[in-house]
Amino acid sequence: MVTYIDAADAPLKNTGQVRLYGPEDFEGMRKAGQLTARCLDELAAIVKPGVTTQEIDDFVFEFGEANGALPATLNYRGYTKSTCTSVNHVVCHGIPNEKPLRDGDIVNIDVTYILDGWHGDSSRMYPVGKIKRAAERLIEVTYESLLLGIAAAKPGNTTGDIGHAIQTYVEGERCSVVRDFCGHGVGRLFHDTPNILHYGRPGEGIELKPGMIFTIEPMVNLGRPHVKVLSDGWTAVTRDRSLSAQFEHAIGITPDGCEIFTTSPGGLDKPGMTPA
Ligand code: MF3
Ligand code: CO
Ligand code: CO
Repeated sequence: MVTYIDAADAPLKNTGQVRLYGPEDFEGMRKAGQLTARCLDELAAIVKPGVTTQEIDDFVFEFGEANGALPATLNYRGYTKSTCTSVNHVVCHGIPNEKPLRDGDIVNIDVTYILDGWHGDSSRMYPVGKIKRAAERLIEVTYESLLLGIAAAKPGNTTGDIGHAIQTYVEGERCSVVRDFCGHGVGRLFHDTPNILHYGRPGEGIELKPGMIFTIEPMVNLGRPHVKVLSDGWTAVTRDRSLSAQFEHAIGITPDGCEIFTTSPGGLDKPGMTPA
């Protein structure tokens, strides 16, 4: 059985209990989330053919530095970059490098700034130049699945309701949901209880209560759901080399639904895509 604890009374380590946060904590997450969202907005103008993912990483580090924030991924469990850049069939945790992006690529950029101790964790897909219709559709499906997951994130529902909403929609669109990575509690810790699976059954998992803060970050493949991690220990790719996409928001459960901490201030939640 899961137990819930007032975040103010909980030790700063993952104890397996679900933290419930107060209004001041929500304000901290709002500030961190908005800084991350502003960075992801700026990246919309930077991502184009010829740009390297290392240049993207440099921008993320410098934007953080200019705003009093550090990237949470830097020296996290041996990871040495400020962001994850996952291109085409890379599912997540792509390591920035000197290889230029090419026309037709799709790239997920995942940024987590630590601002005043709070972790603003969010990612978006960016088309590079002109992309194929299949890639565009995958991005649309993935974004829509995140919104459906967020719509299910309200008191009385469970984590399984979120996963079920995402899975039924994605599979109905003949795409697949990655099982090997999940959303997570977030706040003063980067990765905390609970796990938020992007598949599941209604009513399963744990009950959502006001004050919970976590990410939803579905990874969706055009082909089969299976992934493997490359020998660098990080880069996760689709086993069938099909295209993969991901969007991530950090949210907080409110009495009547949820607040998204990482919404785009510039209306660039789905950068470079024609509005639906
Ligand atoms: N930002 C990722 C997430 O959404 C985690 C990246 S951890 C890293 O949870 F070490 F790979 F950077
Ligand atoms: Co996350
Ligand atoms: Co992330």
